[in-house]
Amino acid sequence: MPESVSSRPQVDFPAVQTRLNAEEEAVVMETIRNSPTWSQGEQQRAFEQEFTRYVGCADSLAVSSCTSALEMAAALCGLGPEDEVILPAHTFVSSAVPFARTGARLVFCDIDPATRLLSAEHVESCLTGRTKAIVVVHLYGLPADMDPILRLAREHGLKVVEDVAQAPGAVYKGRRTGSMGDFAAFSFHNQKNISTLGEGGMLTVSDPDEGERARKLRWMGNWPFAGDRERYWVPAMGNLVSGMKGVWPFNFCLSEVQCAVGRRLLRRLDAINARRRDQADLIRNALADVPELSFQRVPDGHLHAYHLLVAHFDSSPTRGTRDDLIQLLHRDCGIKCIVQYWPLYRSELFRSFGYGNIRLPNTDTFFDNMISFPFWSDMPEETLRYMADSVRSAVQRLRTG
Ligand SMILES: Cc1ncc(COP(=O)(O)O)c(C=O)c1O
Repeated sequence: MPESVSSRPQVDFPAVQTRLNAEEEAVVMETIRNSPTWSQGEQQRAFEQEFTRYVGCADSLAVSSCTSALEMAAALCGLGPEDEVILPAHTFVSSAVPFARTGARLVFCDIDPATRLLSAEHVESCLTGRTKAIVVVHLYGLPADMDPILRLAREHGLKVVEDVAQAPGAVYKGRRTGSMGDFAAFSFHNQKNISTLGEGGMLTVSDPDEGERARKLRWMGNWPFAGDRERYWVPAMGNLVSGMKGVWPFNFCLSEVQCAVGRRLLRRLDAINARRRDQADLIRNALADVPELSFQRVPDGHLHAYHLLVAHFDSSPTRGTRDDLIQLLHRDCGIKCIVQYWPLYRSELFRSFGYGNIRLPNTDTFFDNMISFPFWSDMPEETLRYMADSVRSAVQRLRTG
C-alpha cells in the first residue's frame, strides 16, 4: 500500500459508541460477586426507579432491547387488523415491525425537510377513522415537535409511542424524551449514547397501571401469588397471569449486571450528551459556510442528544453527487461516511408485505441526498477538525470538478 494511504487517519464509526470508565467496569465484577441473583433483583429495581426519576415518567421497565420495549408497547396499545398506525418510513426497522406484527396496517407519513422528523402536519394528513396510534421517532437524537402531535392524539383518541432509541436524555420544552407519550422505548445497544454491555432497553409509561400490565408481560406471565402461603408449593411456585387480554407474554428481561452498568451510565448521560453537542457544534460551525450541506434544524426549546450527525447534501452547485462526496472522503481522506435509513417501503422486507408502492417526497429526497458523518462519544478534537477540513475541501473539489 502506498505510504500516503497507509499513514492517513482512518475515521470510521466504532461499534461501541461510549466506552466504560474504570468505575463502570468495576461494577460488573462487583455485581457478579455480590449480587444474590443475576436476574430481576435489586439492580433492576433501582435502575428502573432511577430511570423513572430521570425521565419524569410514571414507571419504567428494564428490558432486553428497544425492540422488546416496542413489542410490548405495540401489544399494550391493543392493536389489531382493523387498526392503522402512523409512523415515519425514515427510521430503523424496529420502529415499524412490532406494530406490523399486531396485524395493524402501517401508514407511513412524510417527514419535515428541515428537522427530518415526522410533524403534526404530516401526521394529520394520514389520519383516518381507523388510526389508533402514532409512533414518534426522535431520530438522530432530536426531539420531534411533540405538543401539536399530542394535541392531535388527544383530539382523536390515539395512543402515542415515542421511539427514544436515539435520543435518551434529549429535552423538548423542558420535558425529557420518553415522558410525553403513552409509552416510550429506549435502546442501550452498544451503538447508542449509553449501552448496557451491548444490548438492553427500557420501556417507560405515563400510566402506572400500564406499568403493572407490562411487568406481567415481561417474564412470561410469571407473577407472585398474593401474600405468604404456608404450603408455598401448592399449586405451584409461581402464578401465571395475563398482563393484557389476548396478548401472550414475552421473556424480555435484562440481567442484573446490565442494570448495574445502566445505573452508572445514567449518572453521566447528561455529560455524555453535552459533549456530543459540543462535538456536533464544532463540525456544524466549521462547515457553516458550505451551503451545499444542511444539518438538522434544531428548533428553539429542543435539546439534541446527537446520536448521529447527518446532513443533506445539495449537489446542484457542484459537478458531483452525494455518492461522489462519500467516495472522495473515503478514498482520499480515510473518512467512512454512510447513508442511513432506507425508507422502509423501498426495502425488500416491506415490499414483500405489500408496502412497496409508497413514495413520500421529503423522505425520498432526504434519503437520496443524506450523508452521515462518523460520530461517537469523546471524539478527539483533532479528528473533528480533520473531518471538517476534509469535508470542506472535498466539496470544493466537487465544485470545480
Ligand atoms: C430508531 C430506532 N429504533 C429502535 C431501535 C432498536 O434498538 P435495539 O437494537 O435496542 O432493539 C434502533 C436501533 O438502532 C433505532 O435506531
